[in-house]
Amino acid sequence: MAKAANKSTAKKSAKKPAKKPVKKVASRAKYYFTVKDSVKVVQDRSGPKADKRVKYLVDTLVKHLHAFIKEARPTMDEWMYGINFLTRTGHLSNDWRQEFILLSDTLGVSMLVETLNNHKMSGETESTVLGPFHVANVPHYPNGANICLDGKGEPVWVKGRVLNAKGKPIPGATLDVWQANEDGFYDVQQKGVQPENNLRGIFTSDEQGRYFFRSAYPRFYPIPYDGTVGDMLKALDRNPNRPAHLHFIVSAPGYESVVTHIFTPDCPWLKDDAVFGVKESLIADFKKVDDEKRAASLGMPNPFREVEWDVILSKAK
Ligand SMILES: [Fe+2]
Repeated sequence: MAKAANKSTAKKSAKKPAKKPVKKVASRAKYYFTVKDSVKVVQDRSGPKADKRVKYLVDTLVKHLHAFIKEARPTMDEWMYGINFLTRTGHLSNDWRQEFILLSDTLGVSMLVETLNNHKMSGETESTVLGPFHVANVPHYPNGANICLDGKGEPVWVKGRVLNAKGKPIPGATLDVWQANEDGFYDVQQKGVQPENNLRGIFTSDEQGRYFFRSAYPRFYPIPYDGTVGDMLKALDRNPNRPAHLHFIVSAPGYESVVTHIFTPDCPWLKDDAVFGVKESLIADFKKVDDEKRAASLGMPNPFREVEWDVILSKAK
């Protein structure tokens, strides 16, 4: 008995000190970086105080980035080119040019984010990319004003209503509009050439939800092609053009704002938009009008184009 008791005591005392250190070492060893476990090693560095949403987004990004590296196997030179590419993209961005938005746009990422976040179920106006040329603090105009300050291009009368999903007018909605000129450039791309705030401004819908203003027939244009995004498009033999469009951001208290465009129906680049922004529901009818009386009543030259575009907003969530 004594022998047996001694054996069992010996067993217990031998087990106790052996267990803990082995467990700790095994646990630490598991978190050395390995190619196989690379995702888990990085993800498990987060502490208990990590912001849950940030952790989820970064963990998911790490998972897909590591998968990309493991599949594409960039060389060290290619990886360094990528780092320099992103650095140059940052240096090219300023108050007037946003190369990172352009990169997101041309990779189809902007359209994915905005489409997944703005899925419309009840006929509300669909959204599309913001693009890199929106400017804050532009002039507010009364309805009927002319935003075409350089006088170029075919004159267009733009009109419509801002409505809710039931077709009820929304008075007091703001419509922030902007577009490129006849030469295919935004005012901010041609400082000193185009008048400041050419083809941009903010309008407000009236008591019947109506808005109206004069502009110019939009023309297609190439996205900025002299930076990192241009380098990428050239290397991929991709078209840099965006089909002709007029940008809108429409907002009203109690409603979701919509960032959108309307496209001309006859543009050759509709199905080859460099930033994938075209949705069929956003192709508008820019009618040709040849009517002296009507032109005179609107203060327009004759002939001109006219587009009627109602914007339907969804209730704020
Ligand atoms: Fe644009």
